[in-house]
Amino acid sequence: MDKKIVLAYSGGLDTSVAVRWLADKGYEVIAYMADVGQGGDFQKLKKRASSAGTSKVVIENLQKEFAEDFVFPSLKAGAVYESKYLLATALSRPIIAKGLVETAKKEKAGCIAHGCTGKGNDQVRFEVTSMALAPDLKIMAPLREWDMLSREEEIEYAGEKGIDIDVTKKSPYSLDQNIWGISIECGVLEDPWNEPPQDAYKMTVDPKKAPNKAEYVEIGFEKGAPVKINGKKYNPVDLIVTLNEIGGAHGIGRTDMVENRLVGIKSREIYEAPGGWILHKAHKDLEALVLDRELLHFKESISLKYAELVYYGLWFTPLKKALDAFVSDTQKKVTGSVKMKLLKGAASVVGRKSPNSLYKKEMATYEPGDKFDRSVAEGFIKVWGMPYKR
Ligand code: ARG
Repeated sequence: MDKKIVLAYSGGLDTSVAVRWLADKGYEVIAYMADVGQGGDFQKLKKRASSAGTSKVVIENLQKEFAEDFVFPSLKAGAVYESKYLLATALSRPIIAKGLVETAKKEKAGCIAHGCTGKGNDQVRFEVTSMALAPDLKIMAPLREWDMLSREEEIEYAGEKGIDIDVTKKSPYSLDQNIWGISIECGVLEDPWNEPPQDAYKMTVDPKKAPNKAEYVEIGFEKGAPVKINGKKYNPVDLIVTLNEIGGAHGIGRTDMVENRLVGIKSREIYEAPGGWILHKAHKDLEALVLDRELLHFKESISLKYAELVYYGLWFTPLKKALDAFVSDTQKKVTGSVKMKLLKGAASVVGRKSPNSLYKKEMATYEPGDKFDRSVAEGFIKVWGMPYKR
């Protein structure tokens, strides 16, 4: 049990080398691969894991659970980190870590391991999740322990050990992708003054090359969850994937930022989340139609906190659970449709409607039919302004 370990295996160089490194330390290594929509040939990666020395490879499709239990709650909460990041990577870590922990239990392994570097957020997210769900599991982080610092050293090690890796295919960037979006860093992006080259983007076309004609999409929501595109019902995964395609073709959902990592450094990262941004904007707009002013304003502060919790790896915590209960209560009335216009990198809300709309045309109108009682305005202003009258 002590010498059996489940490793979160991505199929890349780091985790392939980690398999062998752990095996050489006397561990029986089980590779765990969670499919959260990152793409790639799982059967090929399975072979690679075996060539590196695993005793078993477990592949699990978590896309549905990811969309329903991680992405949608975050969408309902309105979580965006530092105004620009929809948290695709951050949301995927707790579900992968949960899968890792469950696999360790099933396989009677006493340890888990991940291939995160020692200066990123992901190590924190994996380990805090594991601590919260299975405090007795031992956690190993080979990349924090071994002394191979460069990629070249790892390639050499892989060569010596006969690990079947594909070094030619390496992108100049570090990528992390799932159905909710992609995170791109490293290479020329490390200079925050450098404009991201077009080849850095994977899910979106250059807005300059996007169609000159606008495309309209109507998103239908039920209790805060998106359920329809243009009147047609979709399950959560297909809905996100479909909007990624539609939005990606219009160059929607790119962000470029310098962000504050949890470990105290600033890093430059670019993100793409075409479907995510369409949904976030549409959802926020529908809330504006159906929630009263005080609830809407208060919820904005919750969105900020929620995004921090997700970013900081605090998914399985009492505060996050309590915030979910609050958010879920706020979503009871968030049912309706939002009309979005997609054009050259911009997704704009151009219409919204709901059976729970609090918008009253007879109160707002400046045209005949106005029901607003102007006579009460004067008294209201007198009382409202009283404290400031000299
Ligand atoms: N900075 C993002 C986060 O901490 C993404 C991290 C992974 N990025 C990557 N390009 N490998 O959530």
